Amino acid sequence: MPQRKRYLFVCVNKRADGEPKGSCAALGANEIYNTLKGTLKKQGLAKVEARTCSSSCLDTCWVGPTIAVEPDGYFYGHVTLADVPEIVAAIASGTRVERLVMAPEDFDEATARPKSAFQKPAIDVGRDSAFAGRSIDPASSGGAEGG
Ligand code: FES
Repeated sequence: MPQRKRYLFVCVNKRADGEPKGSCAALGANEIYNTLKGTLKKQGLAKVEARTCSSSCLDTCWVGPTIAVEPDGYFYGHVTLADVPEIVAAIASGTRVERLVMAPEDFDEATARPKSAFQKPAIDVGRDSAFAGRSIDPASSGGAEGG
């Protein structure tokens, strides 16, 4: 097998029920691992672009489920099953899903950002939106004109 461009280490660590630290497995990491691996394979990316590997605890449990991306050296945090297509698309295009990339402060439980910082915005004002490309400046909206 050739060396892949990237290795995705998905933490699938499982702790006993009731452990205060919790675990990535308890948050659905095995489903994420299986779906990520299967999708990369289906799209023909598994043998060249990225290999999905299961990992023990990456010591970032408070941001779990986590994925370490090597050799790039960044981590994805608070990953959900719904994020997998975006992660695969990023692999295919040689980019990364910026909203999931852990910032330096996320590696310390005391300073980690909340889960909401990693989630997609509820309202996606994308290029297909009726508001795309429109200014919110009242001076340019015609509302400030008068006479
Ligand atoms: S259990 Fe997944 S990072 Fe610790």
